Parts: sequence; structure tokens; C-alpha cells
Amino acid sequence: MNLPSAVESDEVICQCYQVNESTIRNTIAKNDLKDIDSVTEACEAGGGCHSCHILIQLFIDQYLEKTTPMEDLVQDHAQKIKKEGILSRFFKNF
Ligand code: FES
Repeated sequence: MNLPSAVESDEVICQCYQVNESTIRNTIAKNDLKDIDSVTEACEAGGGCHSCHILIQLFIDQYLEKTTPMEDLVQDHAQKIKKEGILSRFFKNF
């Protein structure tokens, strides 16, 4: 299963630091960021509970034009998700 090509609206992705999707995507593109730690350093997203790491990784992968299978993202990041429902806005299976 491949991931959706884009997230549909400009919602707050990182609840801990109130960072929205466009800020994260623009930060990734402007600074050519390739990992979550760099995104956190640049705009604070991902610096709290880590629930949003899976979505930050999705945005990085989309910027890099990688098609990471959803199962791989879930395996790498699902254990960090502490806030229920954060993925249901983006993925139908959650
Ligand atoms: S929601 Fe992003 S670090 Fe908590």
C-alpha cells in the first residue's frame, strides 16, 4: 500500500508546538531537510511527544519523492504516537 500523495488541508500537525502542515513542508523544502531531527531544529515540529514524527517523515519522503510503504512508516513511528486520532485525519485505516 502506498501513501496518499498529499495531505489535503493546512492543519496543525505538531500539537505540542502548534506547527501546521505548510510550515513543516516549507521548512523542509527551503532547507532541503532529510530527517526529522533537522525539521525539529528548524521549526520545532516534532520536539515534544513525537506523535507527529510519522507525518513529518511522510512530508520528508514526499519532498524527496520517495514512496515509502505505509507499513514501514507505521513500523518505524507508530510506537511514538501517544495522541489517539492523529493519523485518522490523514489515513483511512487509522
Ligand atoms: S505532536 Fe509533535 S511533538 Fe508532540
